[in-house]
Amino acid sequence: MNAIVIYSSKRGSTEQYAHWIAEDLGCEAVPFARIREVNLYEYDVIVYGGWIRGSGIVDFDVFKKKWLTSDLLPKLVVFGVGVANETPENYMQVYEINYKGIAKEGGPNPTLYIVPGAYHPEKITGMDKMLMGVMKKVLISGAKGAGATDDARELADRLENGIDLVKRENINAVVREARKICE
Ligand SMILES: Cc1cc2nc3c(=O)[nH]c(=O)nc-3n(C[C@H](O)[C@H](O)[C@H](O)COP(=O)(O)O)c2cc1C
Repeated sequence: MNAIVIYSSKRGSTEQYAHWIAEDLGCEAVPFARIREVNLYEYDVIVYGGWIRGSGIVDFDVFKKKWLTSDLLPKLVVFGVGVANETPENYMQVYEINYKGIAKEGGPNPTLYIVPGAYHPEKITGMDKMLMGVMKKVLISGAKGAGATDDARELADRLENGIDLVKRENINAVVREARKICE
């Protein structure tokens, strides 16, 4: 299959998924930092995967602006990797933030998958640590309140204590979708 996987990963879980997907599709996985070396028009399927940071799929905004044209849209499958449960609310939030400008009614809207990642608090440094400090405060205070949902409580616990949800089978839907585009 003539496919390519482009990925943006900071601490390895998105990279691991990108390599698994590439292995299943029999293609190459290229980090977003090396996208200049790739001619996207040569491929029948483009899989883009990025880790989720504050609901944004990392580097997808730049990918959309600089590299994605309407000709490529029907060939694209997108996955975001995060540690929040895939509730409809979380999915819609990620969708709305990241699909701004490409989602068109009646048009070819690339399928978005959210894949469970890994979070190890002791490995988070710099700007990420600051951002997480703020996010955690909001989540944890919300998670304690009377109206707290189980999902918010669970996310607060994952951010506090760490979690590893990375499993090979989590890519199956992405691989199926990529194969469907080639049929
Ligand atoms: C600063 C920061 C913000 C994050 N924001 C989110 C988020 O909004 N939603 C989510 O599900 N996970 C969030 N995460 C968790 C990461 O998406 C998760 O750890 C992911 O697996 C990291 O991918 P990587 O290992 O490829 O870097 C955040 C993590 C950090 C450090």
